[in-house]
Amino acid sequence: MRELLGTHMDARETWATRIGFILAAVGSAVGLGNIWRFPFLTGESGGAAFLVVYLCLVLLIGIPVLLVEFVIGRRSNRNPIGAFDELNHSQWKIAGVVGAVAGFIILSYYSVVGGWAIQYMLAGLTDGYVAGEGAEAFFAETASGTGAIVFHAVFMTLVGGIVALGVRNGLEKAATVMVPSVVVLLVGLALYGSTLSGASEAYQYYLYPDTSTLLSDAISVLPAAAGQAFFTLSLGMGVMITYASYVGEDRSLLSDTGLIVGIDTAIAILAGLVVFPFLFTQGIAPGDGGPGSIFVSLAGAFAELPAGNLIGTVFFFMLLLAALSSAFSIFEVVVSFVIDRFDIERAPASVGLAVIIFILGIPTALDLTYLELYDMFANEILLILGGLLMSLFIGWVYADNALEEIQKGRSASWFGDFWLTAVRYFVPPVLLITLALAVVGYYEFLQSTFF
Ligand code: PFF
Repeated sequence: MRELLGTHMDARETWATRIGFILAAVGSAVGLGNIWRFPFLTGESGGAAFLVVYLCLVLLIGIPVLLVEFVIGRRSNRNPIGAFDELNHSQWKIAGVVGAVAGFIILSYYSVVGGWAIQYMLAGLTDGYVAGEGAEAFFAETASGTGAIVFHAVFMTLVGGIVALGVRNGLEKAATVMVPSVVVLLVGLALYGSTLSGASEAYQYYLYPDTSTLLSDAISVLPAAAGQAFFTLSLGMGVMITYASYVGEDRSLLSDTGLIVGIDTAIAILAGLVVFPFLFTQGIAPGDGGPGSIFVSLAGAFAELPAGNLIGTVFFFMLLLAALSSAFSIFEVVVSFVIDRFDIERAPASVGLAVIIFILGIPTALDLTYLELYDMFANEILLILGGLLMSLFIGWVYADNALEEIQKGRSASWFGDFWLTAVRYFVPPVLLITLALAVVGYYEFLQSTFF
């Protein structure tokens, strides 16, 4: 990123090019959330109804909240911790604190799943991929236990090491290759999937909601779909505040938002078009795949494709790059928070945090129940709470300035009014309802798991 900015991050320069900002934001947004988390949650939440609710939430909540973060970032020229001081509303810093805590938890298991991707990448080079029951057994072996802990350590070392060595900009540039490659590979796999015997049943499940039960289904999947909308767009943690703090005032925040959300959503939808035909063809019920859905279904596909081991290795390598560029953005928020709060230098803060995050993630590398426990709490509760606080701040405390900010750089004025109305009257009640349902759901999940 530094190189793209043409200077050190802390000097308040703007992005050298529009593409620099878009790449960093897309690099953060596109990650395990699109390719691993989205298909598995869709499978667990009943398929098409979840897809419908998720898409509605991305459009109606995701876009306005992304713009809320962009406005806070560009207006304040600060990271999420300093932003509220800069705007003279220090008490709203609590939103930044919620985001940093969420980041801390998210990165601890994100790194475990990143470790799975490394193991799958290596599998193509060593023993090769296997289909059927072998694929499920391989996932069970990969996901929990010593191997999972070791590769969690490898992933966290990569994140900490790359940030400490300052070669992160190179990796962010890798997004120029990574995103198109992921799209090409996913399109190819989706086309192959469409030829399989389970394809039509899979599309029925994934794309055609049962309209007679849609409303009740929608309510029950609301917290999971909202958590996913936030997670995939990197919202609620202040990542997008940081990135927008480098955006020049001549840019239209609105058109950048459209591009980022469009790419992110397209990749998630494509991932579903890949996973479900393979799951149905292999006779795995979509809800049973759980967090292993993408790994089991793809390993099965790579086992059967010509040159599958090579394609698989390339695919998981791209997934690893996507995961790393997202992980950096999370790490950045957590590190900035600790530097600011405890007055520590960047290098020791980065190393210390990488170690603490590694330790925090160990339970999730031993038992997938903990992974779901961390994941639900951070996404369905903390990210939504962070987004709610930021939206309340912009809609009710800082509205006039926010309106002025969003209209800079060719954003149509009708849109500014429309956006502000949504941020005031629509986003907060929906997020509040979601949060209430999520808290109840989480309590029930804890009860059924531990008592
Ligand atoms: N958006 C990333 C993904 O979809 O994998 C994950 C993520 C990054 C979540 C940054 C939250 C965040 F602040």
